[in-house]
Amino acid sequence: MRELISVELVPLTHREVEITDMNSVKAAFTRHRPHVVINTAAYVRVDDCETEQDRAFSVNALGARNVAVVTQEIGAKLVHISTDYVFGGESKPRTTPYTEFDTPTPPNLYGKSKLAGEDLVQHLCARHFIIRSSGLFGVAGASGKGGNFVETMLRLAKERDELRVVNDQIFSPTYTKDLARKIAQLIDTEYYGIFHISNKGSCSWDEFAKEILRLAGLKTPIIPITSDQYPQKAERPCFSVLDNCHLRLLGMDDMKPWQEALKDYMISKGHIT
Ligand SMILES: NC(=O)c1ccc[n+]([C@@H]2O[C@H](COP(=O)([O-])OP(=O)(O)OC[C@H]3O[C@@H](n4cnc5c(N)ncnc54)[C@H](OP(=O)(O)O)[C@@H]3O)[C@@H](O)[C@H]2O)c1
Repeated sequence: MRELISVELVPLTHREVEITDMNSVKAAFTRHRPHVVINTAAYVRVDDCETEQDRAFSVNALGARNVAVVTQEIGAKLVHISTDYVFGGESKPRTTPYTEFDTPTPPNLYGKSKLAGEDLVQHLCARHFIIRSSGLFGVAGASGKGGNFVETMLRLAKERDELRVVNDQIFSPTYTKDLARKIAQLIDTEYYGIFHISNKGSCSWDEFAKEILRLAGLKTPIIPITSDQYPQKAERPCFSVLDNCHLRLLGMDDMKPWQEALKDYMISKGHIT
């Protein structure tokens, strides 16, 4: 969110606001009186959502509701961050990217709880931007998951003789800096609604890993495996590629290919020059 250079930014951590508590949200927003609220808070441990359903819905649905209600009350705009995992639960997997006009089919409880949050935001806060993105990597890393996929691959490639990475989940890796830049442009508009914002193109996790290692000059072999060979509690979509259709229709879709975004990221982190 450092891309939001032209505005005063007040970052709030979980310690400063508990979104499942309406009073906590009210206190924080009354104190800061924001013109725009960006809700990035979520329960993001996809597998744990399967066993902690109440927590998933409490944070991702009711927490989003609380933020939407208070944002509406103070007359601000709301940017609500959502996910490609609202898609991909069909019995016959898709092969063409999802637009904002496709009906969501979440394959797991994380996706269901995020979709419930989207619905509440749509109903409760008039001036909303619901932003669905996917496969995020950024300099700060995700606190809930510990770093990001790029850093994990670089570390494991140095520690192990070979890496086994799934090859049957297709998505669009997205650099948070590019996402933030696009959000910064959108919040100055009145183009409310749902937006898909991901870097261009798509790949499987093993293709993503191969490109990371190629850029870093690491030769560790990557063995492609199927999702069945890497069982996880939550079902993952085979295909969850987002089409930035809404942005394109507005002439605002200049998101770069994921390979270029990855290179930018690796330069920013000092992994390559
Ligand atoms: N990472 C991805 O690839 C990806 C892809 C698509 C969409 N997204 C979306 O992007 C957003 C950010 O996710 P992230 O992956 O970057 O994870 P993250 O770094 O863990 O961010 C989630 C944040 O929410 C906070 N949080 C959790 N419960 C909260 C609560 N009840 N009240 C206030 N804050 C709370 C967490 O704080 P604590 O850790 O201290 O609890 C954490 O700082 C989420 O909306 C997620 O659904 C992520």
